[in-house]
Amino acid sequence: MRLLTLTLLFITLGAAEDGLQGWLRYAAVPGSQNAIVPSQIVVLNATEGSPISTAQQELEKGIKSITGKAIKRRSAARQQSRAIILGTRDTFVKHYGNMTALSGLEEDGFYLSTEGADVTIVGHNERGTLYGAFEYLSRLAQGNFAPTSAVHNPQAPIRWTNEWDNLDGSIERGYAGPSNFFRNGFVVDNVTRTAEYARLLASLRINGVIINNVNANASLLNDRNLDGIGRLADAMRPYGVQLGIALNFASPQTFGGLPTFDPSDPKVDAWWVNITNVLYEKVPDMAGYLVKANSEDQPGPLTYNRTLADGGNMFAKALKPHGGVVMFRAFVYDHHISPTNWTSDRANGALEAFQDLDGKFDDNVVVQIKYGPLDFQVREPPSPIFSFLRDESTAIEVQVTPEYLGQNDHLVYLAPLWKEILEFDMRADSQPSKVKDIVSGKRFKRKLGGYAGVVGAGANTTWLGSHLAMSNLYAYGRLAWDASLDPQDILQDWIRLTFGCDEQVVSTITDMAMRSLPAYENYSGNLGVGTLTDVLYTHFGPNPLNTDNNGWGFWQRADHDSIGMDRTVKNGTGNAGQYAPEVAQMFENIETTPDNLLLWFHHVPYTQKLKSGKTVIQHFYDAHYEGAAAAQEFVTQWESLEGKIDQERYENVLYEQKFQAGHALVWRDAINDFYYNVSGIPDDNGRVGNHPYRIEAEKMTLFGYKTYAVKPFIAASGSAAIITTSNSTTGTATTNVTFASGTYDVAVNYFDLIRGKAKYQLAIGNRTVGEWVGDAEGKLGHEPSLYLDAHSAMRITFKGVSVARGDLVRITGQADGMEPAPLDYISFLPPGVVD
Ligand code: GCU
Repeated sequence: MRLLTLTLLFITLGAAEDGLQGWLRYAAVPGSQNAIVPSQIVVLNATEGSPISTAQQELEKGIKSITGKAIKRRSAARQQSRAIILGTRDTFVKHYGNMTALSGLEEDGFYLSTEGADVTIVGHNERGTLYGAFEYLSRLAQGNFAPTSAVHNPQAPIRWTNEWDNLDGSIERGYAGPSNFFRNGFVVDNVTRTAEYARLLASLRINGVIINNVNANASLLNDRNLDGIGRLADAMRPYGVQLGIALNFASPQTFGGLPTFDPSDPKVDAWWVNITNVLYEKVPDMAGYLVKANSEDQPGPLTYNRTLADGGNMFAKALKPHGGVVMFRAFVYDHHISPTNWTSDRANGALEAFQDLDGKFDDNVVVQIKYGPLDFQVREPPSPIFSFLRDESTAIEVQVTPEYLGQNDHLVYLAPLWKEILEFDMRADSQPSKVKDIVSGKRFKRKLGGYAGVVGAGANTTWLGSHLAMSNLYAYGRLAWDASLDPQDILQDWIRLTFGCDEQVVSTITDMAMRSLPAYENYSGNLGVGTLTDVLYTHFGPNPLNTDNNGWGFWQRADHDSIGMDRTVKNGTGNAGQYAPEVAQMFENIETTPDNLLLWFHHVPYTQKLKSGKTVIQHFYDAHYEGAAAAQEFVTQWESLEGKIDQERYENVLYEQKFQAGHALVWRDAINDFYYNVSGIPDDNGRVGNHPYRIEAEKMTLFGYKTYAVKPFIAASGSAAIITTSNSTTGTATTNVTFASGTYDVAVNYFDLIRGKAKYQLAIGNRTVGEWVGDAEGKLGHEPSLYLDAHSAMRITFKGVSVARGDLVRITGQADGMEPAPLDYISFLPPGVVD
């Protein structure tokens, strides 16, 4: 009996919810047994390993898992009852005759009808058929059994991901463990994860993956790796996902042994033609190349005074006979510009680089443009180059891996950011020119165009390092197919597929996710100032001190009185003038510039009044308090779902949300202290620099600990922390409770460095309140920092602790490795207070 109970328990729980299946879990849907789901499947053309045979397997597996009912395979001639008919348009027409709906099918499109006698899934091509199968399954998995009948076509042909995987197995800007494609210089032998990834992507109708870093290593082209590339492509092919690679422009010289990589040298051209031909022998359906040239020290044609078009076209010609495309990045800028020059501006770089090149690229080149002119900041206007290039195909590049937006340790649902850019009307020739219509090719009548999403999927079972972050990959795919979709609708599909259809689960996660981007913007950089992260180091925590005075150009130009980049034509860098006239005029004029881009385009006094009536500086202070407060609420919201989410994912997300809540306070205080310090203008509400519930560690009685001046100073409360006197010491910091007796949430702020796992104990009145270990590096999915700074600053909170005035407070810290058990402060927070 006990055995039976256990077995049943296992069946109910099913596979571990470790995130590996993403939104393709096919969880059982209560009541679906009674839904009219066919019991047979007729597959019209299923060659082994083709996307249609994948579709068949997915349908069989998915329907069994969702409804509990098995479906049987039948040939068209032997079909006895309601069936799923699966095939491409051509084979369907052959068996069943034509249908008017099918004439509307475009490349990769599909027709799904559940209304007739059968469920009909007909793709324009095999890949489209697979997309149709996934769409049908997505509906069933969400408990949506309503009849439907429609043609679904993509808005753009290019819907790719860019993976920035390095040959050594690391991933540039990846926050979820090592690469799924490479290890120790070579393509991995085991391609299981590649196939699993392709499956997730195919369900989003993504049709291409660039497998390696844009900062490309030419050794990708050695013989062993060429074979490996073939293996990876084989693993993706059943999902209709085509493989592409990023190239290093100097490969003919650095890898091929030629004396030059000059694109106008015939030997260089011949070298690329040859290697391209070899690649197509291994991967006959290779998608193409991605090229980052003359940017951030990467080689390119400018080295030889050739144009970027000369460079791009060299690859285009090699790819042309094979049908491949070149994604040529517009991310070209000089990172040694002079900050003392009022008119220099990194945001001008791309358009300056491409200004004479409109119409000069071959027709299988697509110019790949980051959404904003700078670099994936929390708020940027669309890049002006979208409306400047009329005779080139273009694609928008977005970052699913939030390099500047919390690195998947902060919940930031990105679809609203992308949507805002995609819906922005660039007013080219004073005509409607939304970014989405430019990159789809419609606005300027281009055959090619589309979407590139930098994902950073790693070997972690969550793929991105956090379960909630998968909403971003999901939303990216959905928007790349159809940018008219609403981010909240997309999100809710994802929630139902990922966590089930419980109404409280759906509404709670919806609320958290929809508030997450505004919250992050509020506690990072407001009013278009940029993300204010540490641009010279890891781009994670706050460090507004180093945004200015370096060649990287993320400047905010904050001085004692004023702040913001003057990008006007009349007085600044002229960047506003790179837009089409109507948009240029809007940004040139401070009155018509939206508040959220004010500091992007204008340099103003801190006392400048916003349209809201607040001053810039007070807006900063308030927004940082509001954003950090929202991050605290995400924890309670998530906790309200306990019991409704499986334990593994519940605990995992809870850890991340608690981390974010603590780190949001680090952000809030660091940025506010910075502006208070630089401007000297106090917060109207008296909060900034005033923390009555805190006891600074450096003010406690120290034994085996010493005071340490943290850099940047804004990373520590009171600018200082304590560290153990040596790396093998156990230190104690003691003080007495000066607050009234009562119940408090007790928070300890400390620093968790990556090379060590220090141990801590907090005791109050001789009772142990809690013990913890500085082991976030193993839990966050990535390793924030080697130093005591705003990346490693963390908080742990013990709820509802009873304390009496005068109680002895003792924190014990035992150093480990390079981690000297650093402590910043302890807070005694009365109910409802966050500080
Ligand atoms: C950012 C990022 C780099 C990346 C670059 C790019 O600057 O920090 O890691 O190489 O973008 O997009 O090429």
